[in-house]
Amino acid sequence: MNNEYLISITEEFVKHNLKRYDSGHDWWHIERVRRLARFINEKEKCADSFTLEIAVLLHDTADSKFAGDKIDQGYAMIKEFLETNGMSDIKDQVIEVIRNASFSKKNPTGNLNDPVLLILQDSDKLDAIGAIGVARAFNYGGFRNNAIYIPDEKPAGKSNSTIGHFYDKLLKLKDMMHTSTGRNIAEERHLYLEKFLEQFYKEWNF
Ligand code: ADP
Ligand code: NI
Repeated sequence: MNNEYLISITEEFVKHNLKRYDSGHDWWHIERVRRLARFINEKEKCADSFTLEIAVLLHDTADSKFAGDKIDQGYAMIKEFLETNGMSDIKDQVIEVIRNASFSKKNPTGNLNDPVLLILQDSDKLDAIGAIGVARAFNYGGFRNNAIYIPDEKPAGKSNSTIGHFYDKLLKLKDMMHTSTGRNIAEERHLYLEKFLEQFYKEWNF
């Protein structure tokens, strides 16, 4: 089986398994992360491009379909998919990478020497900042029915407003980049977040 075919069946598997209402992790998020990951790897040339592609495609499948305690069922489903489709050789690496890719994971324990994990983490985080990051944050906040801004809220890691989420997470992502290519892209997107906040407060305090 050639790689192109394996990528196309993985795409179908992912599209089928991403929950439709979870637009924070919809197919377009996967597409954007894939483009970022390819770009970073073309510059850095550090990861096997096929393994990276498969890991990027699958990185939110378990999260999206099986929340909370059931997440292990998600990994088991992915494992079975890789086994039954001739990708047993990369199965353990891919599962390890996607287990550790998420920012929301409390104790990331991933192998920080694996370039596939490093590039996936950078790419996933880049899609949470810049204009896309702003759009995703307010989309998520709307979905949760959160306030856009709570003026007297002290950002303490778990804000109830979407502006609070900028301080909890988004403004920290730039300094969490692993690759220099990721860091360069993050600089521009981070500046955009700062500009957005500046304008937001200007209008709020009109
Ligand atoms: P990941 O799976 O990459 O760890 P999450 O599932 O936590 O990320 O978040 C998906 C998207 O939703 C991101 O763009 C993130 O910034 C946004 N998001 C997550 N939590 C909040 C929140 N409390 N308020 C606003 N946006 C949020
Ligand atoms: Ni993601």
